[in-house]
Amino acid sequence: MANSSPGVRHFLSIMDLSIDALKGLIDRTLALAEGAPVKPFDGRVANLFFEPSTRTRVSFELAARALGAQVVNIELARSSATKGESLTDTCATLAAMGVATLVVRHPDSGTVATLAADLQGSAQLVNAGDGHGEHPSQALLDAATLDASGLDWPNATLAIIGDLRHSRVARSGLQCFHALGIGRVRLAGPQGMLPDWEVGSRVERVDTLEAAVHEADAIMMLRVQHERIDKTIWPEPATYARDWCLREEHLALAHPGCRVLHPGPINRGMEIESPVADGRQSLILEQVRMGVHARTAIFEWLQDEQQR
Ligand code: NCD
Repeated sequence: MANSSPGVRHFLSIMDLSIDALKGLIDRTLALAEGAPVKPFDGRVANLFFEPSTRTRVSFELAARALGAQVVNIELARSSATKGESLTDTCATLAAMGVATLVVRHPDSGTVATLAADLQGSAQLVNAGDGHGEHPSQALLDAATLDASGLDWPNATLAIIGDLRHSRVARSGLQCFHALGIGRVRLAGPQGMLPDWEVGSRVERVDTLEAAVHEADAIMMLRVQHERIDKTIWPEPATYARDWCLREEHLALAHPGCRVLHPGPINRGMEIESPVADGRQSLILEQVRMGVHARTAIFEWLQDEQQR
């Protein structure tokens, strides 16, 4: 496992975390959200984002700065990657300058774990989303958001709707929610977007959005990952919106007070209607706020291991 370099801890996958570590990270996220003082981070952090990102990149940067770390943002268009340098060499170069915590987002699944192994302990890696692979910090912030909203995990029904097949958010989220003992998960989306990956137990696939949200306690909508989809199966937007856009009438089918989540960026009118995205049941901006605290908790956790 890539997490095994001596003295160096990576944050690559929810599956690498023990249940105690996962719950500890969620508790710490919630404590930080309530104003707990941060533990200073004595180090340098680089953000290497090989895909566009607003909330994930900025929240990692804000978290690192709040901890007192020095942060460098590598602009790929201006980095040596454009001269043919391998990603491993770019990262080894940064590590040699004392930038030993690398937050990486990459369009290819598995890249961040491979980097962690290749760097052999000279840097600690944080997976900020790899292709359609994993997005563990998003899972952490989603779990913390649901927890803070009072979700009763063992008795809860969660609907995850949309482009499941290409969603690293859904994949890491399911791993995390299972570990936390979610009662039941329903998955729904268009045919070509249903998961072709292992969904785990206590998961039901249903055919329609209406069936998915029936008496749900939380609904997580997903963005259509058009950058990862073969254009021949790209759904016609009007058809997609007709069948898979969450509207107010759907909320009436769910439990009163059902929470609405979306990792963002949202496509209004395609995945979610504005009155729902902006409505009182929406936790979308709460997810964004929690994201800074979750990433702060991750940096603290990474440093804990270094200090041992
Ligand atoms: C997600 C991502 O990039 O994986 N967004 C995010 O991190 N907030 C989801 C998406 O892009 O659809």
